[in-house]
Amino acid sequence: MPKRLVNKNILLGVTGGIAAYKSADLARRLREAGACVRVVMTQKAKEFITPLTMQAVSGNPVHDDLFDLQAEAAMGHIELARWADAILVAPATADFIARLRQGEANDLLTTLCLAASAPIALAPAMNQAMWKNTATQENVQAVQDKGVKMFGPDAGEQACGDVGYGRMLEPLELVKQLSELFETKMLTGVNVLMTAGPTQEAIDPVRYISNASSGKMGYALAQALTEAGAKVTLISGPVSQRTPEHVTRINVISAKEMYASVMNHVHDNDIFIGVAAVADYRCKTISSQKIAKTSEELQLVLERNPDIVASVAQLDKKPFVIGFAAETENLISHARAKLFRKKLDMIIANQVGGTETGIGSDENAVTVLWCEQQQEFKRMSKQKLARELVSLIAECYKIKNDELRCLSA
Ligand code: PMT
Repeated sequence: MPKRLVNKNILLGVTGGIAAYKSADLARRLREAGACVRVVMTQKAKEFITPLTMQAVSGNPVHDDLFDLQAEAAMGHIELARWADAILVAPATADFIARLRQGEANDLLTTLCLAASAPIALAPAMNQAMWKNTATQENVQAVQDKGVKMFGPDAGEQACGDVGYGRMLEPLELVKQLSELFETKMLTGVNVLMTAGPTQEAIDPVRYISNASSGKMGYALAQALTEAGAKVTLISGPVSQRTPEHVTRINVISAKEMYASVMNHVHDNDIFIGVAAVADYRCKTISSQKIAKTSEELQLVLERNPDIVASVAQLDKKPFVIGFAAETENLISHARAKLFRKKLDMIIANQVGGTETGIGSDENAVTVLWCEQQQEFKRMSKQKLARELVSLIAECYKIKNDELRCLSA
């Protein structure tokens, strides 16, 4: 089973064709592959399969009405469009493809397709003569020209007894093709070393100083980087995140251990990304025994930890170095100061503390700064943000590499 769909938000559109009976199995297979599935049904789809069935197999309420006040209060249609990492319409009837081509927004599914920035894939299913018809073929070509992916159709015997192209692909094949949508080749052959999560600085055998980093941002980036073809080594502080497939994970506890591990591995890498919330200070002495509660006050003496990302940026043969900046005030000016002070190629600035984004949360909003440029990424899931950041990182890394090649030519 492909793993690219783990944690992906898949909006499964079901339109009114006999193949809709397979959509229930498709929803089940998508969930087995790790995706979170929400189903949107057209009115005609409900003639073929019930919303109750689709709700049971997807594990989420089914959306079927553009003007449903209750549904809009829970998750409005624009929010639903933003939520989706990909939209898969299966089955996609000839009528739906025609309406999509026209840019119609006369039901929930077409409206979502118009409002979403996520990739859209269709699994056509219809009678072979309808599929061959010039009108359908022109519509298919037109939506493909707009970037819509077409999964199938397959050839074979049809429900009406005809034989030819028009059968919907089997659910497992659709899951495979959908997972390939998340596989880009932007960083093929590129080695990336990165850090994520918090560090823990021991006070005594049972206590430590740490922070609230969950590792979600770093692990989402690691996943997006492997999907872009990079070979990723992730040096991680203590977190409870699942290691993404194909990522080599090295566990560390303290900043000193993280520093040593980074310095040990950095030489084989083309890009370094410091997502970890590294403790700036550690206890000067760690008590060998649990500190007893004997006085009203306790003073800990702290000393500076090495700055990992700045040390990597100072190497003679340094990789493309990217840092994160976690700020509670003056986000852009503080981040820009860190970009220059630490001699980084790029910095990704996020607001932390008292926000619903940033540290510990499922969503983030960032501004990326590099050279004299900056680009803002509005609030979205860390998974989606990671994929957008990877596109920008790949672009900037390529430009920098080409410049270096020109200089050494
Ligand atoms: O893990 P999550 O809950 O998903 O939260 C994600 C995050 C908020 C932790 C992440 O997006 C983030 O901002 N990471 C950087 C946190 C941080 O330590 O920021 P900073 O501004 O203090 O440090 C700037 C840069 O220097 C960072 O790249 C950091 O990794 C690096 N650094 C800091 C101190 C140190 N001793 N060594 C370092 O390498």
